[in-house]
Amino acid sequence: MVAVRFEPAGPLRGALTPPPDKSISHRAAILAAMGDGEATIENYLDAADTRATLRAIETLGATVATGGGEEMEVRIQGIGLQGPGERAAQGDAPEIDVGNAGTLMRLLPGWLAGQGAGAWRLDGDESIRRRPVDRVAEPLRQMGAQLDCRDGRLPPLWVHGGALSGTTYQLPVASAQVKSCVLLAGLLADGPTAVVEPAPTRDHTERMLTAAGARLRVEPARTPVAIRGALPGARITIEPAQRLGIASVSVPGDFSSAAFAIAAAVLVPGSEITVTDVGINPTRVGLLGILNRMGAGIEVTEETPVGGEPRGSVSARHGLPLEGIRVGAGDVPLAIDELPLVALLGCFAEGRTRLSGAEELRHKESDRISTVVAGVRGLGAEIEGTEDGFVVEGTGGLQGGAIDSHGDHRLAMLGAVAGLASREGVEVRGFDAAGVSYPGFEADLRSLLS
Ligand code: S3P
Repeated sequence: MVAVRFEPAGPLRGALTPPPDKSISHRAAILAAMGDGEATIENYLDAADTRATLRAIETLGATVATGGGEEMEVRIQGIGLQGPGERAAQGDAPEIDVGNAGTLMRLLPGWLAGQGAGAWRLDGDESIRRRPVDRVAEPLRQMGAQLDCRDGRLPPLWVHGGALSGTTYQLPVASAQVKSCVLLAGLLADGPTAVVEPAPTRDHTERMLTAAGARLRVEPARTPVAIRGALPGARITIEPAQRLGIASVSVPGDFSSAAFAIAAAVLVPGSEITVTDVGINPTRVGLLGILNRMGAGIEVTEETPVGGEPRGSVSARHGLPLEGIRVGAGDVPLAIDELPLVALLGCFAEGRTRLSGAEELRHKESDRISTVVAGVRGLGAEIEGTEDGFVVEGTGGLQGGAIDSHGDHRLAMLGAVAGLASREGVEVRGFDAAGVSYPGFEADLRSLLS
């Protein structure tokens, strides 16, 4: 296990381009494999999770060539919507190792379930084996698919190819992964498939499918189980397709990765940084609204969108003392991966910060309610976990100490930011987990300090 120490330091100054977006990279590789022609993905994320996706589509028969200089470029020769089944009919239905990648584990079954033949076993690391897959098995079964999983809810997941019928599926949780899985299956169904989300969730799949020529209709959902405080979600209807035609994708920077430097700049006195070329899709940047409510100094400059995804730059600086706020269910889906940072920000705020409606955090790379609460408490925070969030009493700072990543990349990066902002420094145990989404994180963060 790699342990790295982050001493109190600062200020952070200058510009940072975050690594390419993980969610968009996964989707680009999968949709390119589902296409018939060659697709080029510019600025693909070169990290453990997204390398697992390239290996998975290669295993299914797509040809993958990687190149490029500073930015990774990937050329993918697709196998077509029915490609995996055609190969399976010739006796080739391999096992797929998703590693730590939850998005891969949840999206791929949507494609495989609609194949004319074949059965695939999807498995991953220890953390993946603790994360539920019944949430994708259930809607796919509703469409007629046959799937099996361990204890009825956990990986490994076996997906059998078969005929799918169009359905309407009301998502019980606001999950972009489940939504995306059903939409991919909808391409292979015998009629229209609708997914209704209880609150807006990241919409990269919808944008990319539309760009690839899929017939997709997005309208406001009139959902009976809307989430308190959230904007209305969407009802997305997809028509069956014969082929997908994705030619090129340019991946913007990952806001979720940028969020760590943004939080560091807000917390460390004297800091002022700009994050450039970052995706600012409104379904991803809920943290900016949270920071705004806490009184942080943030400015966003929007640039011309590339490939249907809004992008721009975000400036963040240390300024006014932060105020403790309530972060509720309505905020959760749009800031889901950034919520651990709310615990850290809350330590430095005046008054109490309370997160609720975030039980989904228990199903991430670690149980992020338990690991975040134990982690920052170990650094001196006054924080209590609740069933669906946490309550943190702001004390204006953090002492420091040691934190364990529990193999969770976002916890490793949280520990690093905590170290810079702390009084005594933080040792991050298992810091290597950061490589799942952001292999250059330590170097990038330190470059802002020099
Ligand atoms: C993701 C969706 C979110 C997020 C995850 C990536 C995606 O998960 O937490 O890191 O790429 O669709 P859920 O769909 O489970 O909320």
